Amino acid sequence: MNRYERAWLIFAVLMVAAFLGIIAYFNFAAGLKPPHDVEVIDPLRVSQDPRFSQPRVEEVEPGKRYNIYMVARMWSYYPREIQVPRGAEVRFYITSPDVQHGFQVVGTNVQANVIPGYVTVIDARFEKPGEYLIVCNEYCGRGHHFMRAKLRVTEGY
Ligand code: CUA
Repeated sequence: MNRYERAWLIFAVLMVAAFLGIIAYFNFAAGLKPPHDVEVIDPLRVSQDPRFSQPRVEEVEPGKRYNIYMVARMWSYYPREIQVPRGAEVRFYITSPDVQHGFQVVGTNVQANVIPGYVTVIDARFEKPGEYLIVCNEYCGRGHHFMRAKLRVTEGY
C-alpha cells in the first residue's frame, strides 16, 4: 500500500474513533442525553387530565415549591395569570391540545416548545420580583400574537 494512502487511512480511522469517543464521553461521563422520559398525553384528552382540566398554581411547599399546570392553546394560556414568590422552586407542566406553541417568559431563560401529545416540564426560579410577560414564540395561527399570560413574582411569601 502506498505510504500516503496508509497514512490517510489511519488518519480517517482515528477521526472516527475520536468522534465516537466524544459521543461516548458526553453520553456516559457527562450524562448529556436526548430526553428519554418525556411524558406523553393524548391531546384529545387533555381536558380529562386532572392537572390540565383545572390549570392552576399548586402550592407544594408554601413559599418554597410550586407546581404550575398550564394549558397552551390557540390562542391563550390558562391560567392567564400566575403568581409565585421570589426564589421558590417552580415547576411548569405545560401541554397543548391543538398545535405547537412556544412558551417563553420574557426577560428570563425560561423557554420551551409545547408540543401536542407531550407534557413539557420546565424547572425555574425567579429571583427578581416583578411582572413578567409570557408570550408564545412559535407561530400558531391567526391569533398567535394575542397569545400571552402574566407571571407575577412577589417579594416574599
Ligand atoms: Cu401559540 Cu403562537
